[in-house]
Amino acid sequence: MVETTDASAPAGRIRTSGDSEVATYLEIAEAREPGQVLTPAPNAPEAVVVLDYGSQFSMLIARRIREASVYSELIPWDAPVEKLNHLKVKAFVLSGGPASVYEAGAPTLPAYVVNSGVPVLGICYGMQLLAHALGGRVDPAESREYGHAVLSVSEGNPLFKGLPASLPVWMSHGDRVAQLPPGFRSIAQSDNAPVAAMADDRGHVAIQFHPEVVHTPQGDQMIRNFLFEVAGCTGDWTAGNFVEESIRSIRAAVGDGQVICALSGGVDSAVAARLVHAAIGDQLTCIFVDNGLLRLGEAERVVATFGRHLQIKLKHVDATDRFLGELAEVTNPETKRKRIGETFIHLFEDETRALGRVDFLVQGTTYPDVIESASTGNSAAAKIKTHHNVGGLPKDMRLTLIEPLRNLFKDEVRRVGKELGLPDEMVYRQPFPGPGLAIRIIGEVTREKLDILRRADWVVMDEIKKAAVYYDLWQSFAVLTDTKSVGVQGDFRTYGHTIALRCVSAEDAMTADWARLSYDLLAAISNRITNEVREVNRVVYDITSKPPGTIEWE
Ligand code: XMP
Repeated sequence: MVETTDASAPAGRIRTSGDSEVATYLEIAEAREPGQVLTPAPNAPEAVVVLDYGSQFSMLIARRIREASVYSELIPWDAPVEKLNHLKVKAFVLSGGPASVYEAGAPTLPAYVVNSGVPVLGICYGMQLLAHALGGRVDPAESREYGHAVLSVSEGNPLFKGLPASLPVWMSHGDRVAQLPPGFRSIAQSDNAPVAAMADDRGHVAIQFHPEVVHTPQGDQMIRNFLFEVAGCTGDWTAGNFVEESIRSIRAAVGDGQVICALSGGVDSAVAARLVHAAIGDQLTCIFVDNGLLRLGEAERVVATFGRHLQIKLKHVDATDRFLGELAEVTNPETKRKRIGETFIHLFEDETRALGRVDFLVQGTTYPDVIESASTGNSAAAKIKTHHNVGGLPKDMRLTLIEPLRNLFKDEVRRVGKELGLPDEMVYRQPFPGPGLAIRIIGEVTREKLDILRRADWVVMDEIKKAAVYYDLWQSFAVLTDTKSVGVQGDFRTYGHTIALRCVSAEDAMTADWARLSYDLLAAISNRITNEVREVNRVVYDITSKPPGTIEWE
């Protein structure tokens, strides 16, 4: 009987790269009998803390601050103050959020924010909260202001240093400050907000608009002004400093211990491994489990880059037979994922055991994963993490985790990778799912189908790179559908496979749009696939966005 995907299937997916997939398998395994978790976080001599009130832009604020070379962390507004102990807080930013300050149960301003005496920037809900908490009044606005607005700056303030008196900004609010709190002055207005910005003499500044979004063109400058003119930050958050500090702390934490790292071929595990190797050299062994579901030449590239070029101790386990055996006759996408996850864990634990003494496990966990799993209580930040129910590492295998990228956004991981000399093709690689080509072959995975898909996919990659659009696309790949159709190839009538081409642009994988590739490029891909992969006589282009489609077909 043919298994089908039920409606709940997508929820079981891990919506991240192959790296995170591997990391998640290992994390789940660890969770069964938890070891100690160690985060060799670099000393952050200064940090700006963003309190998250649930705006969809909260994470973007932290990213913008980091882009200005100031370290920033996003913390749920209701997190205990101890969460800040490891930081030297130079300023707070209060994010926007969907609530109204006068509603019962609305998120509040923690006392430590004002008590700490450091500058505070309130954005949207953050502004209203500051006004409300410090003795002002917030009312519903007569009309909601959403979208572009023009800001008129009426009073000079360091926040607007170097900017004109009239500025395009992006608004999104239903409430407004009706009465200023004592000590505050209105410093800018818009049509629907008589107090579009306010400030006092203690370094409290608040703005009704969103400086973090691209629709506020001078928003970056305002954020920089807040960081450097108001909060007096020094701007020491750079890839170079991060690498230096991480090497020092990894060395101190590991001592003479033995460390393992699972390589997936993706960016995060590659950068994590490279960083740990830079710190402790041959005390690190990387394990690369080749599941036989990678793209053409991918396994060879991992071995060449890590083993030969970087001289990292690498155990290459070719487990193609084992994985394909587990996948025989499996057609349900979630069953494929589960089998692949379980097989990976079993192989990884066998290989680790064979190494003898091992004390630490490196994982390429990154900051978005941490934020997602850290959001608690009333925090409105999204809880997205989903994972598969896979078997665990044996109880006697207690490893301490090293997560050197735990505090980094993806673009920062890439910068660190560049700083460590990893090649561009590894650092800027498009995401590739952990279950690999298995979820790009509709129906049962066989060697023959893998071979067809690899050759078609190679053409896609080659043409996309030649057309110089590889780095503009989030992902671009071929899918081997389960449809066969009639064609004419040469003088013969054929009954061949259909390849679907999937190319999407995206900011993150939560939403995506199908890429408007040129007709010439589509034609070149189609011609080459049908000429070079004789089993394929038809190529179709997937013009579905996400939602309602997903990026992968399974
Ligand atoms: P979807 O298909 O859900 O994919 O739009 C979103 C992103 O996640 C990747 N993806 C996976 N990554 N294991 C992974 O490591 C998986 O099972 C998996 N499924 C999808 C997909 O490539 C895209 O980047």
